[in-house]
Amino acid sequence: MRHAGLCLLLMTVVPLAILAGCPGPGKSEAPMIPPGSELTKGPAATGGETSGEETYTIGMSQCNLGEPWRVQMNADIEAAAGAHPELEVIFKDAQNRPDDQQAQVREFISQGVDLIIISPKEAVPLTKPVEEAMAANIPVIVLDRKIQGDNYTCFIGGDNVLIGREAGKHMVELLGGKGKIVELKGLETSTPAGERHQGFSEGIEGSEIEIIFSADCRWLEPNAQREMNSALSRFSQIDAVYAHNDPSAHGAYMAAKQEGKGREKAIKFIGIDALPHEGVKYVEEGILSATFQYPTGGKEAIEAALRILKGESVPKTIILGTRSFTPETVAQGGKEIPATAPAGE
Ligand code: FRU
Repeated sequence: MRHAGLCLLLMTVVPLAILAGCPGPGKSEAPMIPPGSELTKGPAATGGETSGEETYTIGMSQCNLGEPWRVQMNADIEAAAGAHPELEVIFKDAQNRPDDQQAQVREFISQGVDLIIISPKEAVPLTKPVEEAMAANIPVIVLDRKIQGDNYTCFIGGDNVLIGREAGKHMVELLGGKGKIVELKGLETSTPAGERHQGFSEGIEGSEIEIIFSADCRWLEPNAQREMNSALSRFSQIDAVYAHNDPSAHGAYMAAKQEGKGREKAIKFIGIDALPHEGVKYVEEGILSATFQYPTGGKEAIEAALRILKGESVPKTIILGTRSFTPETVAQGGKEIPATAPAGE
């Protein structure tokens, strides 16, 4: 661990813009990086460690490990960090409890880790602990879900508005512009849920698609299955389901199947995440009509962490690209959807 040295280095060498929460020279750009690609290089470090023997400790606070997507994020971080012997990553799982996640960040601060990566459960409760880390001169990378404001070093994540919009456009195509649908939302106090809803609403705008039932499923399959049971018992016509993640889409499918009327064959299910062994497999099996990739950003977080730790500048916001997977495109590895800069960036 070299926290004291790092602070000095950051305070003297790194453009103050980073510590002040402002982007470096690539400023106010949100570069679009296809998943898996290298980060664009920022200005070269001018004062990094020279011994080459320095080691760094990164604290990673994961909001829960109950969903395959988060297990994948940790695996991506571990694999990327594994290629750098100078990095040690301490993983903590908050088990979906915001209080625990707050405590984890504070523990990392008192341990004096060199950098924190956090994938926060919700924006509001995690904003303060991140601010505290920044005040202690520990750089923070916020991954996937956002916090409030911009007092962090770097945000890395998918473009949830874009993904939602593409899902909406795909829904319009699938239903020929008209139909009654169910929306199974993610946890509404986490930012991707609002963004995926907003994008979807934009995507179906002008069509005759009507959302007849919507529920907060908190990203969890059992909740989605239960909510879909209610929707099925209330509505004789459901043409499609838009679920904010693949586990929820699968839960909805299972509810329709278990109803025993064969409605799972008529209803179209759209999900998000596109893990190879989850959403993509569901498309291959004919369960989902589409899924949209939500990259974990684990690899990109380690790339950004290394640069920050070496005193280099990183962009304030790094937005990752996406791909759609449908029965037509799944065999070729899906279709790339070009990312566009989010409004205001
Ligand atoms: C996992 C997850 C993913 C979803 C992401 C949004 O916890 O629910 O399925 O895409 O979080 O933050």
